[in-house]
Amino acid sequence: MSADSSSDTPDSAAASAGARQPGAAAEVQCVTIQDKLKLFDDYWQPRIVAELNGQQVKVAKLKGEFDWHSHADEDELFWVLLGELTIRLEQETLRLRPGDMCVIPRGVRHQPVAEEEVHVVLFEPATTINTGDALSARTHVDLERI
Ligand code: NI
Repeated sequence: MSADSSSDTPDSAAASAGARQPGAAAEVQCVTIQDKLKLFDDYWQPRIVAELNGQQVKVAKLKGEFDWHSHADEDELFWVLLGELTIRLEQETLRLRPGDMCVIPRGVRHQPVAEEEVHVVLFEPATTINTGDALSARTHVDLERI
């Protein structure tokens, strides 16, 4: 896939990714997710790859057990691209394979677990903190945009 329609300013969209002024033209955002995933190797550190309507599309690599947490005000979408992701809930355990997607509603405690490396897309409001109400050394704010 390519978003380059022979533009001579290929980096302009990415360079001005902040909030746009009222009336300003929208910017087309196209990314190749697999290319973005090649840019980093660390786990549990989501990166932003697109933003729309106050929400962010993020990619992350997961391995091991994350912390139990919930998000008071945000529903959280997990879309598995690679590997098998277990999401423990208080009443059940979800097992997501590549192509599977689920939305964890706000307020629902969850613990993502990846026995082997998992690649995911996350889609959630920009206010969402990865560890929700369980602030820890794994909490990341001001996420990098790639
Ligand atoms: Ni969460």
